[in-house]
Amino acid sequence: MFDANDIKADFPILQSTMNGKPLVYLDSAASSQKPKQVIETLKQYYEYENANIHRGIYYLSQKATEKFEKTRIKISNFYNAQCAKAIIFTRGTTESINLVAQSWGRKNIQEGDEIVLSIAEHHSNLVPWQMLAKEKSAKLKFITLDDNFQYELSNLNELITERTKIVSVSQMSNVTGSIYEVDSIIKRAHEVGAKVMLDGAQGACHLPIHLKKLDVDFYAFSGHKMLGPTGIGILYGKEEILESMPPWMGGGDMIETVGLESSTYASLPAKLEAGTPNIAGVIGLSSALDYLTELGLANIHNHEMNLMDYTLEKIAEVPGITTYLSSNREQRSGVLSFNMEGIHPSDVGTVLDEEGIAIRVGHHCCQPFMKNYGIPGTCRASFYLYTTYEDIDIFVESLKKVHKLFSKFAKV
Ligand code: ALA
Repeated sequence: MFDANDIKADFPILQSTMNGKPLVYLDSAASSQKPKQVIETLKQYYEYENANIHRGIYYLSQKATEKFEKTRIKISNFYNAQCAKAIIFTRGTTESINLVAQSWGRKNIQEGDEIVLSIAEHHSNLVPWQMLAKEKSAKLKFITLDDNFQYELSNLNELITERTKIVSVSQMSNVTGSIYEVDSIIKRAHEVGAKVMLDGAQGACHLPIHLKKLDVDFYAFSGHKMLGPTGIGILYGKEEILESMPPWMGGGDMIETVGLESSTYASLPAKLEAGTPNIAGVIGLSSALDYLTELGLANIHNHEMNLMDYTLEKIAEVPGITTYLSSNREQRSGVLSFNMEGIHPSDVGTVLDEEGIAIRVGHHCCQPFMKNYGIPGTCRASFYLYTTYEDIDIFVESLKKVHKLFSKFAKV
């Protein structure tokens, strides 16, 4: 039985107040809160287990190495990856995407080649490709969105052609929460011999993922959106592709032998993980995965869908709301972007802050998306496993207050 109230009790910060009001945290798409189990794991690690990994012959170092490497296996199993070697630790989704652009991209993209993205990408899945395209004189092409905030797939064969070398798109939107139909994109890309990367920053923490079945070449995501610590991310890549990629950062741990003039490199995954990694971050992420495994991502997703149904019903009571959301329930998740007529998103966010409610307002790192819809930004409420129906009630009541407050100003 999934009970968000019980789950919420595991999150110390969710028992606290903000501006003197009980905290209602509706910004999980930006970063999730952490359960006490993850916080305890980090505390235990730093108090009793801290040592560098892959280097020491002493007990502490070997123990830390074992926990670190076991997490790699756990992640591989959790997401049904090809193998543990195909899991590369990074600082986050952004670094994972930059790794692919800088290592795979610089080796494989030549002048005139095409890189296909979408107009709805997060800046972290746009800028690395812009940098690469500029350096290589390659061309960027963009999948647009249809009326339902889904990828427009009708012109896929013209967009993804023999000139396409890689397609890199989001699996789930951080603005609209849309769960995108990516299967036909992956299929078409492979038909023309292109690689596919999915930005899984939102997908990996809300949807059950089977990486082998998805057949993606690269998948990037972050630990901090899935109950884990900040500063830890993952790049999954098909083993044979990762094998073919040159290192993108040099340093300790990624070498086999080092001479003064040249070096040889370690095999996977070390080749792509230079320097001391975020050991505590990985071990904390292991604990987060245990927490998610116990509840099941499918159950979490189901909870978020039910919450969204409830929110949409309630929010209809607030005048002047425009939502940016798929009309198809199956394509939605726990992210609701909206605007209030005549009220700037920052003003909505400021009033909600005073009520103890945390939402994100602005462009959500998706300026081209906002430009496409001719809006400066949106207000975004995003849910997770600990979001309760009571949180939604407080949120909607506060939106009514915002409306009342600003209608008063409008009359002056
Ligand atoms: N990508 C994160 C968000 O959408 C930071 O808020």
